Amino acid sequence: MHVRALSLRDFRSWEAAELEFSPGRTVFLGSNGNGKTNLIEAIGYLSTLGSHRVAADAPLIRIGAQKARIGATVVNTGRELRVDMELNQGQANRAQINRSPVRRPREILGILQTVLFAPEDLSLVRGDPGERRRFLDELATARLPRLAGVRADYDKVLRQRSALLKTAGRNARSGSRGAELSTLDVWDGHLAGHGAVLLAQRLRLVHELYPHLAQAYSGIAPESRPATIAYRSASLPPELLDPARSPQPEDESELEAILLRELAAARPKELERGVCLVGPHRDDLELMLGSAPAKGFASHGESWSFALALRLGAFELLRSAGTDPVLILDDVFAELDRRRRTALAAVAAGAEQVLITAAVPEDVPAELEAAPLRVETTGEADRRASRIVESASM
Ligand SMILES: Nc1ncnc2c1ncn2[C@@H]1O[C@H](COP(=O)(O)OP(=O)(O)O)[C@@H](O)[C@H]1O
Ligand SMILES: [Mg+2]
Repeated sequence: MHVRALSLRDFRSWEAAELEFSPGRTVFLGSNGNGKTNLIEAIGYLSTLGSHRVAADAPLIRIGAQKARIGATVVNTGRELRVDMELNQGQANRAQINRSPVRRPREILGILQTVLFAPEDLSLVRGDPGERRRFLDELATARLPRLAGVRADYDKVLRQRSALLKTAGRNARSGSRGAELSTLDVWDGHLAGHGAVLLAQRLRLVHELYPHLAQAYSGIAPESRPATIAYRSASLPPELLDPARSPQPEDESELEAILLRELAAARPKELERGVCLVGPHRDDLELMLGSAPAKGFASHGESWSFALALRLGAFELLRSAGTDPVLILDDVFAELDRRRRTALAAVAAGAEQVLITAAVPEDVPAELEAAPLRVETTGEADRRASRIVESASM
């Protein structure tokens, strides 16, 4: 698939922009701070409903504006769809498909698939488990958009159950026995139900991503030890976590039963601590190099290679379903040595559409060269706005 047109209004440093792209590669060139990442962040937002840089939407709205708009025309095997997002300050965001409002923004998920590789991805290897859970969940949702609803339901149940645990724990300690305990049973059921669907999809994803990841890593860093991934969960038996095991249709009900059992066993501790100790929000994706965990053991270069391999593996996995996701490479070539540049360039050269940002033309490998779009800013202080000034040759 590819993005044919992009329009931005008051998105970060972009006051107004109407851009047209063709398949193949597009290079955005400009010195730091001019708005290159802002541009590709907007495209990424349409595919995940989130920024790869910040957790909240507020920073995405241009300073002084009340709302930001991102619109794109996406071409997928000859069929065009227009998606529009409106990010509102202090109000619910709104979305449209082909100019018709949809009930929830998450209905646009799946229309635009992207794989975005950026300097922030180092935290996939070095950061907290939450970074890796987000990687898994965003990729799983790209493959199965209805998972977005399951994730939202799970998060809601988790918040309410955690609040209830706190109240119940307080009451138990003060000797009063409220109605919370029977309510808690109901929430256990919801948590286990949504949690099992999410877990089953994560396990399936790890099983299918695993060979792509291993292959991508050995292509990028053949001299290094082999890279593997495995899902980690304190609640689940090891045999279910083996990435080589093929997921089965009956997994979901088994996972639900396991979660219910584990919740029952953890109940006293949960009441004591006032936190939810069982469920996919506690899990992690373990990244291994040979027999050592990448986190803590991998060198800087190996960490970069692992992060890149996760993204390239995701690209190959999505592609294997029939259509190329849009590959977005944000300022990454400057960070990579020659071998990793070449490996990334080889994958990128074969992708339907690649959007690349770089500060200087020398950062873009020769095989990906294209007439660059130059990104600049004009204006003063808070009124500074990004614009595309010219198409120069590299
Ligand atoms: N909400 C916003 N409103 C206006 N400007 C913003 C907003 N968020 C970020 N910026 C500006 O965008 C610029 C950074 O843009 P970025 O795309 O990260 O640059 P680069 O070209 O280096 O990738 C900074 O100058 C920052 O002040
Ligand atoms: Mg940038």
